[in-house]
Amino acid sequence: MADIPASLAGARIPGHIAVIMDGNGRWAKQQGHRRIFGHENGAESVREITRECARLGVKRLTLYAFSADNWKRPDREVAFLMRLLRRYLVEERREIMENNIRFTAIGRIHNLPEDVRRELDQTIAMSRQNTGMVLCLALSYGARQELADAVRAIAEEVRAGRLDPAAIDEGTISGHLYAPGAEDPDLLIRTGGDVRVSNFLLWQISYTELWVTPVMWPEFRRERLHEAILDYSRRDRRFGQIREAE
Ligand code: IPE
Ligand code: IPE
Ligand code: MG
Repeated sequence: MADIPASLAGARIPGHIAVIMDGNGRWAKQQGHRRIFGHENGAESVREITRECARLGVKRLTLYAFSADNWKRPDREVAFLMRLLRRYLVEERREIMENNIRFTAIGRIHNLPEDVRRELDQTIAMSRQNTGMVLCLALSYGARQELADAVRAIAEEVRAGRLDPAAIDEGTISGHLYAPGAEDPDLLIRTGGDVRVSNFLLWQISYTELWVTPVMWPEFRRERLHEAILDYSRRDRRFGQIREAE
C-alpha cells in the first residue's frame, strides 16, 4: 500500500517518473573532490529515491544512469562508472527483493562490459516475478539510437512480409521501443540545472511534465522528490485539448 507523507496529502502521484540524474561531477568539484566522489554519492540518491518512489506507489521509475554519449568520457571515469554499476547491481538485490521491485533496463545493453551484463541479467531474472514498482535503468541509452533500433526492427518485419507498411502507426513504433508497453513518463525530473533532455526518451516524453532543479543529483533526496511531485500535482495536463466546451 502507498504510504503518503503529510506534505503530499491529496497530491496526485505520477504513475511513471523518469529522472535525468545530472550534476554528480560538479557537486564533487564544489566539495573539493574528484568527480567519482560525486558518482558514489549519487548512488546513495538512487537508493533513497527508489525506495521513496516505491513507498509512494509510483508504478515505474526510469533512471538515466549512463548515456550512449557518456562512452566518450575519459576511460578512467567510464571504468569507474562500470565498476560502480556492477557493485550497485549486486548490493541492491536485497533491497529490490524486499521492496517487491521488478528491475529492468533499457539501452544498448550489449555494449556494456560482460561482467556488468552478467550481474544485470541476474538482477533482472531474480526480480522478474515481483509485482511492485518497475525500476528501469537506462544504460548505454540514447533515444535516437532507440528509435533507429525500432525502425530497423520494423523494416525487418516488413521485409519478412509480416507487416504491411500501410498499417504502421504510433502503436507500432511504441511497440518496438526498448520497453514496449510501458506507459509514457508523467513527470521528468532533471537535476543539475541544465534545461535540456540530452537524448533521453524523446518519443516517450511528448506530453510529460518537466521539472528542472538546480539541485545536484547527490543532494536530490526524499524532500526534493516531494517538491517535484507536489508541483506536478498542481499542473493542468491538457494533452492538446481544452477544459470544457464554451
Ligand atoms: C551525471 O552526472 C552522471 C552521469 C552522466 C553518468 P555527471 O557526471 O554528468 O556530472 P556533471 O553534470 O558533470 O556535474
Ligand atoms: C545526461 O547527463 C546523462 C545521464 C544523466 C546519464 P549528461 O551530463 O551526460 O548530459 P549533458 O552532457 O549535460 O547533456
Ligand atoms: Mg552531466
